[in-house]
Amino acid sequence: MTPDVRPHEKLNRVVIFLGPPGAGKGTQAKELARKFSAPHLSTGDMLREHVAQGTSLGQRAQPIMGRGELVPDSIVLRMVAERIERPDCSHGFVFDGFPRTVAQAKYLGESLKQHGYKRPFVIHLAIDPSILLRRLTGRRTCKVGGEIYNVYERPPKVAGICDADGGELVQRPDDREEVIGPRLQAYEKQTAPLAAYYGRLGLLHVIDAAKSVEEVGQQVLQSVKSVRGAR
Ligand code: AP5
Repeated sequence: MTPDVRPHEKLNRVVIFLGPPGAGKGTQAKELARKFSAPHLSTGDMLREHVAQGTSLGQRAQPIMGRGELVPDSIVLRMVAERIERPDCSHGFVFDGFPRTVAQAKYLGESLKQHGYKRPFVIHLAIDPSILLRRLTGRRTCKVGGEIYNVYERPPKVAGICDADGGELVQRPDDREEVIGPRLQAYEKQTAPLAAYYGRLGLLHVIDAAKSVEEVGQQVLQSVKSVRGAR
């Protein structure tokens, strides 16, 4: 049975979602953060926000993201350092899409130590790559609240409209087939080695991400609750 989250229960740790594009990191990270009222820190969302606002960071990141490549560590680390300093992070938070390189993971390890956090809890959403194309090309995201849908698997009640807030559902520019290939290659080359890195540190928890959103969510909560009690 999946354990419940008590009212006002704190996460009190840093949870990292690791997995290829389309594995369900955003879907699960948002839900876990919601359950514990903890911040959901998606470096992809932060970068897209910079792009939408036309900041100088956004102008540097946009063409790189458009090609499906990783944004340089120097840009991402500055953005993350600023975000985790904020007071709302003091009772734990959920990372989605960060770290993505071994250099980012090493930086994070040091930074968490300095801020007095326990070691992070890393959830690896493992999935057969053949499933990912359908998930990514079918994804639609609410322009207002960021709710994630899928036209094949998790459609909204009314096409193109968010069930939660009535916002318009849009497709991400990097969810086109010609950009998905390079994104998956970048994952294999630069991010997949993090599974071994965190495995060696004894921090990795592998979950089968091919199951339904609800089943994956139950597994995530079960493992987070079990480790929170144990360490
Ligand atoms: P980012 O926004 O992080 O994208 P990503 O890692 O490519 O991951 P996605 O958001 O595509 O997938 P997801 O795993 O979150 O899946 P989701 O839950 O949405 O990064 C974008 C870009 O920003 C990068 O390419 C890079 O350029 C840059 N960037 C970001 N962070 C960076 C960093 N740290 N360093 C350098 N560069 C960085 O689900 C996908 C779809 O599947 C949805 O439609 C959903 O409804 C559906 N779905 C989810 N789970 C299930 C399920 N169990 N069953 C059926 N359908 C499901």
